Amino acid sequence: MSAALQTTPEQAGEALLETDGVSIQFGGLRALTDFRLAIRKGDLQGLIGPNGAGKTTAFNVLTGVYRPTQGSVRVAGQRVNGWLPHQINHLGLARTFQNIRLFRSLSTLDNVKVACRAQGALNPEGVGLGTKMRAAVRNYRDWWRAMLLTPGFLEEERDLTRQAERLLEVMGLSHRRDEEARNLPYGEQRRLEIARALGTRPKVLLLDEPAAGMNTREKADLMVLIRKLRDEFSLGILVIEHDMKLVMGICEQITVLDHGETIARGAPEQVRSDRKVIEAYLGDNYLETHGGAA
Ligand SMILES: Nc1ncnc2c1ncn2[C@@H]1O[C@H](COP(=O)(O)OP(=O)(O)OP(=O)(O)O)[C@@H](O)[C@H]1O
Ligand SMILES: [Mg+2]
Repeated sequence: MSAALQTTPEQAGEALLETDGVSIQFGGLRALTDFRLAIRKGDLQGLIGPNGAGKTTAFNVLTGVYRPTQGSVRVAGQRVNGWLPHQINHLGLARTFQNIRLFRSLSTLDNVKVACRAQGALNPEGVGLGTKMRAAVRNYRDWWRAMLLTPGFLEEERDLTRQAERLLEVMGLSHRRDEEARNLPYGEQRRLEIARALGTRPKVLLLDEPAAGMNTREKADLMVLIRKLRDEFSLGILVIEHDMKLVMGICEQITVLDHGETIARGAPEQVRSDRKVIEAYLGDNYLETHGGAA
């Protein structure tokens, strides 16, 4: 395609998520220093590093849980420093959590429907009072529509159910549709978290140790599924994963953090043989317990 025909940031291959020299400190601890990253549509990147390296902190800064001490975060071309997580989510950035955070007493289906409904609830450009007022009016109106079961409300409900069912199908969870989330086996709860994140129709998906606690077979299946999600939903994906063999098997580019610093970035084979990376992992006896970098 010629450059002249490339109109949107996505078509132009511009970054959907980009950081510029992001740093964050907690008291005297530099949890993340000069973190740079760019995720484009179709990217499948990995973020690795020993325990306490700053990986989850990076996700928290990218998604608005923490405000960076320095540097900027851009999502879909907008600078989002100081934005709230749901506002950033609305721009197309979704995540899962290292410690599963589901609505435990809601059904599997409803966990995803909540996310599908949340999408569209707020104008992303609106951080001001006007938007808050509009959201309040909208909530009030929706409450009455729900109470009166208007045709519009019922049609919207059916549409949300269809969307959520489709995501459950993609994530292999249709058979759990009506079960409470807390009753799902651990591996399925992790997949439900991904389904819920997809419910917000993201352009970029951040997965924080999505395979944690899974057995070898489940992990391998999940990695194949992650690649399929990238292709089917045209996503950019950044995945934190401790199992080196798995992460290096699916990711095209890997960023390595250690003590908050980016010590390496590149293709898996490049990173695997990087001296600083080997030292960082050997220092924690990491290769033996996590599958080996060599
Ligand atoms: N809110 C906070 N307040 C103080 N320190 C924090 C906070 N969040 C993270 N840290 C510290 O920042 C450092 C990086 O933590 P982080 O959770 O990002 O590591 P990680 O790479 O995700 O590790 P793991 O592989 O164990 O999940 C740690 O020393 C942690 O204790
Ligand atoms: Mg972490």
